[in-house]
Amino acid sequence: MAKWESTLEMLVNAALVNPDPHFWRGRRVALTGHTGFKGSWMAILLAHLGAQVHGYALAPTTTPDLFTSAKVAELIDSEIGDVRDVAALNAWLKRVQPEIVFHFAAQALVRQSYVDPVETMTSNFVGTLNLLEAARTQTSIKSMVIVTTDKVYKNNETGHSYRESDHLGGHDPYSASKAASEILVGSYRQCFLQHIGVATARAGNVIGGGDWSADRLIPDAVRAWKSNQTLDIRRPDAVRPWQHVLEPLCAYLILAQRMCGQTELGQAYNFGPDAADAVSVREVIEHAQKAFGYGATDFAELIEGPHEANLLHLNTALAQTQLGIRPRWQLAQAINKSMQWYKAYLDGADALALCEADIESYLATA
Ligand SMILES: NC(=O)c1ccc[n+]([C@@H]2O[C@H](COP(=O)([O-])OP(=O)(O)OC[C@H]3O[C@@H](n4cnc5c(N)ncnc54)[C@H](O)[C@@H]3O)[C@@H](O)[C@H]2O)c1
Repeated sequence: MAKWESTLEMLVNAALVNPDPHFWRGRRVALTGHTGFKGSWMAILLAHLGAQVHGYALAPTTTPDLFTSAKVAELIDSEIGDVRDVAALNAWLKRVQPEIVFHFAAQALVRQSYVDPVETMTSNFVGTLNLLEAARTQTSIKSMVIVTTDKVYKNNETGHSYRESDHLGGHDPYSASKAASEILVGSYRQCFLQHIGVATARAGNVIGGGDWSADRLIPDAVRAWKSNQTLDIRRPDAVRPWQHVLEPLCAYLILAQRMCGQTELGQAYNFGPDAADAVSVREVIEHAQKAFGYGATDFAELIEGPHEANLLHLNTALAQTQLGIRPRWQLAQAINKSMQWYKAYLDGADALALCEADIESYLATA
């Protein structure tokens, strides 16, 4: 290949992988779940791109939480509401008149889904149903990205890399609620929303600064290490695809943007890291501990607690070929960025400035 051809190819690839700032500037966007970890990062990213962002979610439940510490409510139009409340959700969508909808709102924790399966099913499945119903009569909408998870597959834990065409399943109530949402979205896409782009996004475990959820690996580690307690790891050998939170968020933006011109791109997509970055919990923690600088960890010998998948690999060829989406930060860099964020925050740095710096660094990596 001539040098100018490879340069041209690189430029084309770069244009494919970054969200288009011209597209997002001034764009009316509805984002559910904007008070959560991914939602707060998404609100900051969209505001960074100049979009008009309107969020709808329950109030944050952790202390601290990224939504509050990064003052997200000052960046966007934020409404506190429940996706199970049909009247309030409809009124919000009518008021906002969005062109793009991102649906993040969900009870997002596997363990909590064992504690309260009804809350999980109603928030995740019925909440998605309510949003799709509201979208039927909302003529402003051009594309919708419904966030599910990589846990939607019937996981036999054989090491197989799941493709979008593989069987759906769901052992625990969280996974089942998301797999059911996949089928629901497929039905609405075919029966009622053919005129717009409607996609589901199946991403793996994400890490990044500012997640303070219970029962998640990096937040648990930071909580333990900063207070000089030993981190107890209950499934050290569980293998999952890990990525920095900005990877799937940029993928969702590119997907929503592309579906505006090509509704036929509306389908299910896996988003995840390169195969080498599907690693064990033990490897993630060992790297995180080095990056954090200190902290003791106790790796359990026996697996305790309710069933959770121990082995999960995702095949991301479809997102790469259809959308040009490739992972940008390898796992080591994603862990370093995350732990630097937490260390700086704990030393008194401003949460929003830390997110902005990561966003600029990420977009400049393309
Ligand atoms: N964090 C991950 O590793 C990961 C991996 C795969 C998929 N996901 C999915 O990404 C999305 C965001 O996850 P997250 O990590 O930010 O979770 P999170 O728990 O931090 O945030 C969840 C958000 O949903 C909102 N919410 C929950 N129930 C609601 C209800 N009934 N009505 C309105 N809002 C409600 C919460 O208020 C919050 O804003 C979820 O759909 C989750 O299933 C997350």
